[in-house]
Amino acid sequence: MTLSKTPENIRLMFNTIAEKYDFMNGLISFGFHKKVKKKSLKMLDIRPHSKILDACCGTGDLSFLIKKEQSLADVTGVDFSEKMLKIAQSRLDNVKFIKSDITELDFSDNSFDFVVMGFGLRNIANPEKALYEVYRILKPGGEFLHLDFGNKNFFSNIFDLSVLIFAKIFQGNITAYDYLVKSKKSFPSPDELVKDFEKCGFKFKAKKDFVFGVISAQVMKK
Ligand SMILES: C[S@@+](CC[C@H](N)C(=O)[O-])C[C@H]1O[C@@H](n2cnc3c(N)ncnc32)[C@H](O)[C@@H]1O
Repeated sequence: MTLSKTPENIRLMFNTIAEKYDFMNGLISFGFHKKVKKKSLKMLDIRPHSKILDACCGTGDLSFLIKKEQSLADVTGVDFSEKMLKIAQSRLDNVKFIKSDITELDFSDNSFDFVVMGFGLRNIANPEKALYEVYRILKPGGEFLHLDFGNKNFFSNIFDLSVLIFAKIFQGNITAYDYLVKSKKSFPSPDELVKDFEKCGFKFKAKKDFVFGVISAQVMKK
């Protein structure tokens, strides 16, 4: 049942769960995930015409929330799951969604004001390579918002248990959600992540915990 974390396996897994992805996110987060995504975006000073990459955009939640707050922002979404991208594109016709592996982006150096990544890094087979790509494409002074699961604590354990129960009842794809819980457990803590980001050249700007620390956001500057 354990999924080995190769890019192809990850891509196929997200293709398989794409149709129910948004429904399951609402369920397993008890509706919190949209609020957390919205609050984390407030950590950035997004202006009209800011150039933003939604990296590992999935079904486009962050792109959607950015455009809702700042309709003139120039947003591009990138993901390698064509089924997730199809849903993103059906939600937003004012965002360009591109199929690409985040570790090999076809963008010029120093071309984005912001890169946002929600719940993506944990799923990337080669996260270090992805971080170097994010750094490369950011303009000097540009900012990287990283959002994912945070510290492992009592509330995080409750979350893990409810994910597995909800997945069994509503998804029928236990493998993907078993993978989610395992990937969450082996994911670095927010403080360890900041050190990893710094190794790639970023400078720490801010961090914030949400939902009793189950979710955490970090803002890093180039
Ligand atoms: C958990 S989803 C997050 C989607 C969205 N950002 C959100 O917050 O709901 C992770 C996404 O990362 C994408 N992904 C994982 N590894 C990738 C890679 N190497 N290149 C591009 N996308 C990748 C998957 O296809 C999936 O859509």
